[in-house]
Order: sequence, then structure tokens, then C-alpha cells
Amino acid sequence: MPLKPQPASRIAPVFCAIDTTELAFASRCARAAAAAGFGVKLGKEFFTAFGPTEVRAILPTGTPLFLDLKFHDIPNTVAGAVRSAAAAMGPMMLTIHAAGGPAMIRAAVEAAKAARQKPMILAVTALTSLDAADLKAVGITEDVSSWVIRLAKLAQDNGADGVICAATEIAMLRKACGPDFKLVVPGIRPKGAAAGDQKRVMTPAEAFALGADHLVIGRPITDSPDPEASARAIARELEGAA
Ligand code: C5P
Repeated sequence: MPLKPQPASRIAPVFCAIDTTELAFASRCARAAAAAGFGVKLGKEFFTAFGPTEVRAILPTGTPLFLDLKFHDIPNTVAGAVRSAAAAMGPMMLTIHAAGGPAMIRAAVEAAKAARQKPMILAVTALTSLDAADLKAVGITEDVSSWVIRLAKLAQDNGADGVICAATEIAMLRKACGPDFKLVVPGIRPKGAAAGDQKRVMTPAEAFALGADHLVIGRPITDSPDPEASARAIARELEGAA
């Protein structure tokens, strides 16, 4: 199946995280996201179950794809994975782990540049599930914030377009990495929504005001009895705040 066109001019501010193995439901959520002008984020759960064919199948035409597979391997393998992902699915954004090191980051960036439709390479810094004790267990004695800044700057110095970060890290990373480095932020909850397992949540308007470039919002849309109405309500909340 040919890639559906994704005009470069169409840059969605919000990506709806669809973490499910129910194909029809994923498709419904993707249509809901597209109806609100949002992109779609698919990650390991959906991709591992279905692969590129179903990624393409559920993505409404023109809807930007954020493919969140967090590549982390030797540079040659990561370059190959970026090439394959770009050719098969034409994502607007792809993730890698900054902890893979400078050569791995550069390999991902070079592979992205060579793609017909260049994806943005976004790095994951320290997973937000890790606390200081977890970092120490893997030999990192630096405090978590310094480690996040170190990895973000490493990603930037080696050509990555931006990082995934928690809302609470936006101000610190904007300062450390400047205005052009993309900050993509999950853990976002519209006014009045349940936080779920996210510990430090922020509203979409707050995150944009602090300097986020793109937001990732999942369950407030996908757990809703009417995903399209919820996505449109978030879009309206953002327009109202603009
Ligand atoms: O449902 P919710 O809005 O919490 O979805 C957030 C999405 O962002 C999920 O796909 C989750 O895996 C991802 N994510 C996150 N926190 C991070 C990194 C990614 O919630 N630190």
C-alpha cells in the first residue's frame, strides 16, 4: 500500500497516544484525533502487534504520525531501523534513546536526512519512571535533572531535532537547549480530566505557555465514551487559550 501524503505544512500541535491492540478501536481513535486536527502517536504496543501495514491502514489521510518506538541499539542497526520506519510509514516524528550515545544519535539523524520524507528525530532522555535510586542502580550518580539536561544537550549536539520531556522539565530544557530545540510533552490533562497513573500533570494551555512545541495526550481521548467529542473539546480549550 503506498504511503498516504502528509503535507509538510500540516504540523499538528497535539498527538493522540493510541496504546491498544484493538484494531477497530485504534482506528476510531485515530479518526477522532484527525477530526480535531491532531496527529496520532503509535508505540510499541500497537506496532509490535500489527506492524507497518496496520499503522498505515488506521492513519487517516494527511494525519501526521508520531512513531514512538524508542530505538536504542548499535548505530548501524538504529540507522537501519530509522530507514525502514521512514520508508514504510512516513512518520513526522521518530524516537530514539539519547543514552545510546553520540554515534547512535548521529546515525539516526543521518538516516532520517536521507529519507524521502524526513522524520524529526526526538530523543528520550531519562525515562520518567526512573528515580534517583533507579539511576544509581545502573551506575548513574548524577541527580535526575542534571542527567536529563546532559542527555538533551548530547542529543542536540549530535543533530537530534528535540526531546520528549515531562511538563515539569520544559522550563529547564528550554533554557538549556534554546528556542529551536523541539520539546514534545506527554502527561497532559485537559481541565477536569483524571490524571490516571501520571504523577505530575499539566493542562495543554499551561504546557504550551511554558514553551512546549507538541503535546501527547492519550487517555483523556481514548478512554472517553466519545473520543471525537473529547478531542474536539481539547482543541477548543486550546483555541480559547491562544
Ligand atoms: O494516556 P496518557 O495521556 O497518559 O498517554 C501518554 C503517552 O505518552 C503514552 O503513550 C505514554 O507511553 C507516553 N509517555 C508518557 N510519559 C513519558 C514518556 C512517554 O506518558 N515520560
